[in-house]
Order: sequence, then C-alpha cells, then structure tokens
Amino acid sequence: MDLVGRVALVTGGGVRIGAQLCLALAEAGCDVVVHYAHSRDAAEHTVGRIREIGRTAWAVHADFSRDGAIAASRLFGEVLRRAPKVDLLINNAAIFGHETLVGTTAEVWRRYCAINLEAPLFLCRAFAEYVATHPSTANVHDSVVAKIVNILDWRALRPISGGTAYAVTKAALAALTIRLAQELAPRITVNGIAPGAILPPPGGDEEELRQRAHRVPLRRPGTPQDVADAVLFLLRSDFVTGEIIHVSGGEGNVTAFPETD
Ligand SMILES: NC(=O)c1ccc[n+]([C@@H]2O[C@H](COP(=O)([O-])OP(=O)(O)OC[C@H]3O[C@@H](n4cnc5c(N)ncnc54)[C@H](OP(=O)(O)O)[C@@H]3O)[C@@H](O)[C@H]2O)c1
Repeated sequence: MDLVGRVALVTGGGVRIGAQLCLALAEAGCDVVVHYAHSRDAAEHTVGRIREIGRTAWAVHADFSRDGAIAASRLFGEVLRRAPKVDLLINNAAIFGHETLVGTTAEVWRRYCAINLEAPLFLCRAFAEYVATHPSTANVHDSVVAKIVNILDWRALRPISGGTAYAVTKAALAALTIRLAQELAPRITVNGIAPGAILPPPGGDEEELRQRAHRVPLRRPGTPQDVADAVLFLLRSDFVTGEIIHVSGGEGNVTAFPETD
C-alpha cells in the first residue's frame, strides 16, 4: 500500500512510542489522528510536529479505563467527525504493571481488560464496519484497502515474566490479531508488533533498562524508531497478515532468565 495520503488513527499517540509512530507515519505521507487520554498537551505537541512535517493532524480524547467498548466506539465516531476517512488503525495505547496473581484484584483485572484488550477489540470492530460500509471501500471485495497493527509485547507470545494481567491481556490481543487476520481478509490486513525493552515504564529508570539489556542478545534496548520501522513495513506490505514481528533484539527468543522484570 502506498501510504501517501492515507489517514491513520494511533491510540496513545501523544507520548513515547506512540508519538514516534505518529511522526513516522507523517514522514511517510500520512495524515494522523493522535488519540490521547491524559496527555493532552503532549498530543497537541505531536499534532504540531506533524503539521510542521506538512501533514494534517487532529488530537482526539478518549479514556478507555471505565468501559473499553463504549469508549472505543465513541472515539471512532469522533474520529470520523474530524477526519475525512480512516485507512490505518494502530492500537498502541496500553497500561503496564508488575501485579502478580495475588495483586490482581477484580478492579485491576477490569482496568487491564478495558484498556489493553476491550478498547483495541472494539476499535477493530468499528473500523471493520466502517471499511465495509464506506463508499470508497465498500465495493472493493478482493484487495487490501485498510490495515490494522496491534502493538503487543514479546510476553504476549511467551508470558513468562511481567505482570499477570498485563501479560494475559497482551496474549489475548495477540490471539485477536491472528483471528482477525482470517476474519477480515482479504480487505483488511491485521498484524502485530511485539516489542522488547524499548523505554522504561513512565517515570521509570533508564539505567534499569540498560542493565536489562545484558540479557538481550543484541545487547541494547531498542528505540521507538525501531518499532516505527516495523510498523511501516507492515503497513506497506499487502501480502503479510496474521503475523507478529518481534522488535526485541532477540529477547523474545531467550528461553530462561530470572523472574526479575
Ligand atoms: N516501553 C516499552 O519498552 C514497551 C515494551 C513492550 C511493549 N510495549 C508496548 O508498546 C506500546 C507503547 O508503549 P509505551 O511504553 O510508549 O506506552 P505508555 O507510555 O505506557 O502508554 C501508551 C499510551 O497508552 C495510553 N493510555 C494509558 N491509559 C489510558 C487510558 N485509560 N485510556 C486510553 N489510553 C490510555 C497513554 O495515553 P495518555 O498518556 O494520553 O494517557 C499513552 O499514550 C504499548 O502497547 C506497550 O504495551 C512497550
């Protein structure tokens, strides 16, 4: 797919990896809807940088934490009121934590499900319905017209470390990615990116991330641009669907390490 002139919705696009995804999409010629929940100023800043690149951008608010399904469908409706169309959906927003099973109260579990799983699922649903009914795509039955990329984690495929609810909701999103690739073919491709150590958790420690790199075969943390490069590959390719690409410096294939992260 030629990305020039496409419109992308990036959830959690105001900060960190999401912001880099927005800028990389703009550099590739896309207009971008920058979704945010709490980071309004950062989202407006990202919008400003996209406009400097010469593309159109909009900041749109939605908090997924109370009810991911309702928030997702409201968000998609608001996006369609602002942007002329949507071609690309990047489900990047997520929460991360270290809660063990004992720490996983019903409230903790509900929050992870709402943000990490329900919201992306119902955004995929709204997007698929939109593609099926929008005049520019409804009559195209046998070729790729739209793309979904879900940002996962290498723990999605091997949930051997990290918080329980985090790993399980990312694993479910990986399963959804593979399932939807079948269900939404041939018009929408659905793929995932499974990052490794890229940035410390918000407010976290760079040094801890660098130390964790000792177990990364490539011996360094990745960068948000490493993630963006893989996303752009998946968006440009029209013959890749149902795949999950690790961007983990090889960490996703390490078979055993201490339960410390
Ligand atoms: N950082 C890493 O090294 C790493 C490693 C593996 C996988 N990943 C995955 O890569 C993606 C981006 O990682 P990151 O570290 O850049 O993420 P992050 O900064 O922790 O959060 C990403 C986004 O999630 C949004 N978000 C948080 N709570 C929300 C809510 N209640 N409703 C809606 N959106 C909400 C945030 O938006 P606001 O700021 O506007 O609230 C933020 O922009 C995530 O899916 C993460 O799981 C990251």
